[in-house]
Amino acid sequence: MAITIKSAREIELMTEAGRILETVHNELKKALRPGMSTLEIDRLGEEMIRSYNCIPSFLDYNGYPASICVSVNEEVVHGIPNPERIIKEGDIVSLDAGVIYKGYHSDAARTYGVGEISPDADELIKVTRECFFEGIKYAKEGNHLFDISRAIGKYAEERGYGVVRDLCGHGIGMNLHEAPEIPNFEMQRKGVKLKAGMTLAIEPMINIGGWEVEWLSDDWTVVTRDRSLSAHYENTVLITEGEPRLLTLTSREVD
Ligand code: MF3
Ligand code: CO
Repeated sequence: MAITIKSAREIELMTEAGRILETVHNELKKALRPGMSTLEIDRLGEEMIRSYNCIPSFLDYNGYPASICVSVNEEVVHGIPNPERIIKEGDIVSLDAGVIYKGYHSDAARTYGVGEISPDADELIKVTRECFFEGIKYAKEGNHLFDISRAIGKYAEERGYGVVRDLCGHGIGMNLHEAPEIPNFEMQRKGVKLKAGMTLAIEPMINIGGWEVEWLSDDWTVVTRDRSLSAHYENTVLITEGEPRLLTLTSREVD
């Protein structure tokens, strides 16, 4: 599949999809507290998404059974919400969500510490977020796609972290997953040339230990093989001739 270049109208719709998702994330952040189940987070998120006249894009995507991926501690991504899984103080929780607004998608993930967390966990969350911002330094017309990949991987590896290799970022638009795939590590090739109007979901997944992951028997939940902590941070990004526009992060004060 070719990489789509979005029209001004499409960008308008994706901007709105992004703004709504940013609001959902900010509300979920406020709601997150010890004692709540991962299913409660999902219910809250789905309700909010629908209240903005959006569709939760993850629900039923390839059979995924919920609207929000809630991945705790050693879970990397795609944790399935569960009424029995209770969030506790000291956990790190990744929330990944996607919405469809008038046919257009946005996709974003955040990782939060619940209450007091270990300094190592705190550093992991911080570095994962910084990886994203290192990557997008290269996200502009004329650069190559894998400039972004290299910057993300280098930043994490220099700090001793494992970079997940089995899952990638992706193009996004009328579909949740469009071309191109965006690895979070250095590639031999340069990758496609970036052009204004491309919309990309850039999403580093970073482990305290090794890069290796495995799938649990539910066939969704991805965990680190060594069961070390993992964090995820993602925004939907519009490529322009200048600075990239973060469609799911318009206010830099909130993460
Ligand atoms: N944010 C995830 C991604 O970028 C989507 C979750 S997959 C789903 O690939 F099946 F849970 F929807
Ligand atoms: Co994504």
